Amino acid sequence: MAPPVSGGENPYAERLFVVSSAEELARAAAGRLWGIVRERAAVLARGGRPVSVIHVALSGGETPRRTYEILSAEPYRARFPWERVHFYQVDERWVPPGDPRSNRTMLRETLFSRAPVPESNVHCVDTGFPGPSVGARRYEEALRAAFPVPPGGFPRFDAILLGIGEDGHTASLFPGRPETAVGGAWVVASEGGEPPVPRVTLTIPVLSAAAQVVFLVSGAKKARALYGVLSGDPALPASRVSPSRGKVTFLADEPAASLAIRKGGGGSR
Ligand code: 6PG
Repeated sequence: MAPPVSGGENPYAERLFVVSSAEELARAAAGRLWGIVRERAAVLARGGRPVSVIHVALSGGETPRRTYEILSAEPYRARFPWERVHFYQVDERWVPPGDPRSNRTMLRETLFSRAPVPESNVHCVDTGFPGPSVGARRYEEALRAAFPVPPGGFPRFDAILLGIGEDGHTASLFPGRPETAVGGAWVVASEGGEPPVPRVTLTIPVLSAAAQVVFLVSGAKKARALYGVLSGDPALPASRVSPSRGKVTFLADEPAASLAIRKGGGGSR
């Protein structure tokens, strides 16, 4: 992967990695996910816990499609420890199961049906329930069964892959919406965005509890939002993801990073 954006006064050094194109971005993201999983598997093996699993939450939308396709093909297909990795959804649009707008459908088409992912390792939001509030509750119950944490705690995903919308949203947490406020919930029903359907989403504290958060940002239309998030604009939900015991990385292509590079005083190498 490319080194971080350079520049003496660059405030984003060590956090923002810029590559030249959307295809390079997808390759960098697949490599980054593979690297996190490989490292985690090595740590678990050293601790003599060969049966421990690795928890990864994946976003929907358009940007990560190619990343998932790359992960499900060689060389990752043969190397990735599919049996040990459990996959979760960051968010889902409240549409019928199988609907083309569903993030689960996208994940199935690009990753779960292509790679040797055991069915029991896939944990998705079930939109067959009567409404998004019930769906959110059921998804949270499934997460609580998978992550036994003390009352008041939050699950610690090994990796969460996030996108950023043009309005600065992340997951299905939209600017100005009450769901973006921090509470004790792990999963909530939410509103906003395109397509204009209700959503079910992980909350800010869950995103911030992850060991590794990777934002994937592509295209000039995202330049303003990425710059705002890197600058810490509190109005943007993506800015509020701040792992206290983890690491956040932004992977961007040059068009998406253009404003951050210009204003940050650095340049891609
Ligand atoms: C969704 C996503 C969402 C996404 C951003 C960026 O349901 O749309 O999970 O949070 O990550 O909207 O989406 P794009 O990659 O399509 O721009």
